Amino acid sequence: MGEDGRRRFLQSSVFVGASLLLAGCNSKPDSPMQAGGEQPKEKKDGSKEAAGEVTATEDLMREHGVLRRALLVYTEAALKLRSNPSAIDPGALQKTAKLFRAFGEDYHEKKLEEAYIFPAVKNSKENAGAYANIVDTLTAQHQRGREITDYIVEVASRPKLTTDSEPLARTLDSFVLMYRNHAAREDTIIFPAWKKTLSARQLDEMNDKFEDIEHEQFGEDGYELAVKQIGDIETSLSLADLAQFTAPPPPPVKA
Ligand SMILES: [Fe+2]
Ligand SMILES: [Fe+2]
Repeated sequence: MGEDGRRRFLQSSVFVGASLLLAGCNSKPDSPMQAGGEQPKEKKDGSKEAAGEVTATEDLMREHGVLRRALLVYTEAALKLRSNPSAIDPGALQKTAKLFRAFGEDYHEKKLEEAYIFPAVKNSKENAGAYANIVDTLTAQHQRGREITDYIVEVASRPKLTTDSEPLARTLDSFVLMYRNHAAREDTIIFPAWKKTLSARQLDEMNDKFEDIEHEQFGEDGYELAVKQIGDIETSLSLADLAQFTAPPPPPVKA
């Protein structure tokens, strides 16, 4: 790990505890080298393929899954801020914001999207500038998101959230709306456009590169650490039981 990566890892207190818990648990369930020692097969086009291999675009989309779970925590927090602000643990909200910073902003956005995806999509001859506007907007939204994360971390450092409850709730709601739109556009427009700029072999190389970046950034499997962290936050806020979110049956249709 480089000095920069080491510093980030140590600064990311959110990840430190989890990395200790997961120490020695280096097997990546979806990695190309699974327990059975399966070797990637060379295809005719020169790319490799292994059962369960996580491609670069799948990697990005499952990272969005972690960030969406953080957004769900923000939505619950905004609801409680309006009904009973003293019932919210500021520490849980701050942990969520720090996870979003370390995993979402400093890694997923900065090291992957801004470094590789956005420039390739914006500048490729195939796309002929078709995505320039959307990429500029997505980049501006990354920046706005960082400002909002700074704000959440600062406000949530207080022992109670009663003073700032309404402005904080509004900020959380607007961030959630922005990022749900943001990630949905990336999943359905930008990532597919990026994939089209790459040959099978180049995509294969990006799969490996993204995995290397993840290890450099976190020293461990960042995705597994992030999933564990958001799961712990959900447990602390009684949001872990998925069944509680099953919708009730629809009402009868009135005649
Ligand atoms: Fe993004
Ligand atoms: Fe993204």
